[in-house]
Amino acid sequence: MPLARCVPQHIAIIMDGNGRWAKKRFLPRVAGHRQGVVAVRETIRACAEFGVDYLTLFAFSSENWRRPKEEVNLLMDLFVRSLEAEIEAMHENNIRLKIIGDIEIFAPRLQELIQEGMRCTQSNLGLTLTIAANYGGRWDIMQAMKKFAKGRTEPYAELTESDLSPYLSMHYAPEPDLFIRTGGEMRISNFLLWQLAYTELYFTPILWPDFDRVALNDAIVSYQSRERRFGRTSEQLKENV
Ligand code: IPE
Ligand code: IPE
Ligand code: MG
Repeated sequence: MPLARCVPQHIAIIMDGNGRWAKKRFLPRVAGHRQGVVAVRETIRACAEFGVDYLTLFAFSSENWRRPKEEVNLLMDLFVRSLEAEIEAMHENNIRLKIIGDIEIFAPRLQELIQEGMRCTQSNLGLTLTIAANYGGRWDIMQAMKKFAKGRTEPYAELTESDLSPYLSMHYAPEPDLFIRTGGEMRISNFLLWQLAYTELYFTPILWPDFDRVALNDAIVSYQSRERRFGRTSEQLKENV
């Protein structure tokens, strides 16, 4: 268990490497996605235990529609089945579920489950679990701009960051303190572009289905060794303690 002091309040994860995990075992890619759900469960449990308040998981990007139709269908099925199986347990564990992304394109059953999951857990005060589905960072900024602009006629010359941020899809959460990407790739892949501006980045070669509480602990320990300067100098930070 990491030091209770300075546990990141918000962790955002790109869960990558399911396909390679399956390939290594001569299994179909979907077997990697299924095992990925097990890693999701373990990560949620560990975050709740370590005292993390917000966990955000990238489950399906707006670019993932480019995958073979069969894989996309299997991922959608898995999403439906996971929600059917887990909503009650999440509620019992005091988890508040949020889904961000353009969900209108999903099948009606999936949309229904998403709404039901969010409604049923909305008053819970434990871990806030956000699943990013059909999400893209650029989409998020664009949809915020469109919502902001709706019904307004005045010019935007005076528009500030704080005018726009209430319209972003994660307005209910502080910005992530720690970003983790599994699977060895070192890129953001259009995840939370606005919100990651000052997040500490952590990349690990561990494939997502192998990610567990020990791996999460390692990421948090790395985070705890960083100095977050937010543009200031190291000396300034020391003066303020
Ligand atoms: C991440 O694993 C899961 C999703 C994008 C849905 P991948 O499926 O991208 O796994 P690799 O990168 O091919 O190993
Ligand atoms: C990013 O993983 C999206 C999710 C984990 C949902 P990808 O595997 O799709 O990312 P790229 O295409 O390699 O950048
Ligand atoms: Mg991948």
